[in-house]
Order: sequence, then C-alpha cells, then structure tokens
Amino acid sequence: MGVILGIESTAHTFSFGAVSSDGKDVLASHSSLYRPEEGGIHPREAADHHVESSRTLLEGAILDWSVAKSDIDAVAFSQGPGLGPCLRVGGSVARSISMALDVPLIGVNHCVAHIEIGRRMTGCIDPVLLYVSGGNTQVIARASGRYRVLGETLDIGIGNMLDKFGRAIGIPFPGGPEIERRAQSYIEENGSDHILDLPYAVHGTDMAFSGILGAAIAHAKKGENHGLVCHSLQEISFASCVEVGERAMALTGKSEILLGGGVACNKRIREMTQTMASERGGSAYWPDWRLCIDNGTMIAELGRRMLDAGIYTKLSDSGIDPSLRTDMTPILWA
Ligand code: ATP
Ligand code: FE2
Repeated sequence: MGVILGIESTAHTFSFGAVSSDGKDVLASHSSLYRPEEGGIHPREAADHHVESSRTLLEGAILDWSVAKSDIDAVAFSQGPGLGPCLRVGGSVARSISMALDVPLIGVNHCVAHIEIGRRMTGCIDPVLLYVSGGNTQVIARASGRYRVLGETLDIGIGNMLDKFGRAIGIPFPGGPEIERRAQSYIEENGSDHILDLPYAVHGTDMAFSGILGAAIAHAKKGENHGLVCHSLQEISFASCVEVGERAMALTGKSEILLGGGVACNKRIREMTQTMASERGGSAYWPDWRLCIDNGTMIAELGRRMLDAGIYTKLSDSGIDPSLRTDMTPILWA
C-alpha cells in the first residue's frame, strides 16, 4: 500500500501519521507530547524533545502500519504556523526522508490541515470551521479559493487561556482536559444552573480571553469552589466561540459547522455547537478527539490533497514559516 507520511511539529506535539495515497485509509498517528516541568512551553526544550523522540516514533509507526519504507510515496510536514525551533525539527526530518527515499516533499499549512482532516472524517462539505486550539481561535469559511478568517481571538487562544487558568490552580499542562473533568463533577453534584459572572468578550466576529482568564483566577484565589470556576469558565468562553460561529453561519449562509483543534475534544463545546446548529436547521461535526489534537495524520491528509492537485514543495522553498496564516494558502482542491 502506498502512503503519504505526515509530520507534525508546530508546538508541543511531535507526531508521525499517514494516509494511503489513494485516500481510502487513514492510519493512526504516533505522537509524543512535550510536557514542561513547570511554566509554559519552552520552544527550545520542546524542539529537543522532538529531536529525541523522532527515530523511535517513526520506527514504531512504520511497524504498526505494516508499511515498508519503499511504500512511502511522499512526505508532508507542517511548514507553519508555530514555534520556529519546533517547526525546524519537523522540516529537517521531512527533508531528510524525502531526499533519502527520493519522494516529493509537501509543506502544509497546519491550520488548513485541521480543517481538511475534519472534512475527510465527517463528510461535511462546506462548513464554517470553529478552530479552537491552544494557540489559535478562529472562525473560518471557504470563499474565493481560500479559507478566510472571519473572526478570531484578539489576544490569546482559548486553549492557552484554559492552560494558564489550569496552571494558576495547580493543574499541569495541558489544563483543558482536567478543567472539563472538574466542571463535569461539579455539575453532577450541584447542577449546571448557577454560574459565576465572568467577562464575556465578543466584538463583531472577534473574541478575547484575557479578561475572563484574569477574572477566573481572581475567583479561584478568593476561595471560590474550583469546580464552579471551571464550569463557569467553560460556559462563558465556549458561548463566545459558538456565538461567533453562529454569526459566521448567518453571514455566509452555510449550514454546516465543523469543530477542530484541541479544545474541540471538549464535550461541552461540542454540545453547545450542536444545539446552536440544530436551532438554525443546520448540522455540527467534529472528528474523533485523536484527530482534533495536533497529529501527523491530518498533515498527511492535507499533503495527499495537495499532491493530487499537483502541488509539492521544492527543497529551496521548504523553509518554515512560523507566522503563516490560514488565509495565505490557496485552496486548489474540492
Ligand atoms: P495550534 O498550533 O493549532 O494552535 P496547539 O499547539 O494548541 O495547536 P492542539 O493539540 O490543537 O495544539 O490543542 C491543545 C489545546 O487543547 C491545549 O490548550 C489543551 O488544553 C486543549 N484541550 C485538549 N483537550 C481538551 C478538552 N477536553 N477540553 C478543553 N481543552 C482541551
Ligand atoms: Fe493545532
């Protein structure tokens, strides 16, 4: 079976994934997550982690997928956006494999990969995308050959906001999953009706999260029940994303909404998105959580689509671009 190999290394995750070159099979990613001992992500330490995990991960992946090196038809990698030192590791590994095997190299836009894996796995056709991850919070829709950013966070990504709140109350990175658990157990014991008054920041189709972060930390430090703060933080920050998603659906006339990015693993944001979409007569979609978080498989899937459309990357154009934006990549495929 010929496969397209995908390499993800934009931030804390180093991951190899693959899809079959005919697009029929999607193979599970093999990933390793860099977890800082304390504080936020340190780009150089994360890059060292990626270098150290690269060989074992790739060997494990190839064994698990039962493919031979000669089955690799092309190598796709995240060209940006992301942290320079981390991106550089993925780029170097991809270039080496492409040269050693003499197969095409495809530099892909990480944000677009979150969208394309979602479309591939859920079957939605022309959705508004609610891209909610650590570093990014954007509402995106396809128009005139690009994925256009209709709205986005004016300060930090929603996942970073959750991680920072987690860190402030002693939850190690990544904070999102544990905040979800604490909110859930609070609701099971107390019901979901009562929430704290936290700042809600939607400006047109943009959002902001530093106000709500500061207020939530202040509540927690004052001795407020942490479960209640987690619950309130989720309700209010997710509502702002869903509201902007709804505005984008109204603006574009699209009836599908697709969740992507690590925060899309959260059951509550899925439920809220689903409710909003059904109330408008539309539908909501999300891929399996393993394909919401950063993973090599989504990079492989976008690489496959690009190669099918005749796009690949010359060695001289394969430099990384930490500030690549979603709307900088022409979309030349269906
Ligand atoms: P990007 O480069 O696209 O911004 P990223 O580097 O932030 O991606 P992702 O794996 O897409 O990486 O997302 C990680 C984020 O997802 C973290 O902030 C983490 O807390 C959050 N997250 C993961 N699971 C959950 C969950 N169940 N609920 C809320 N947040 C979650
Ligand atoms: Fe991501």
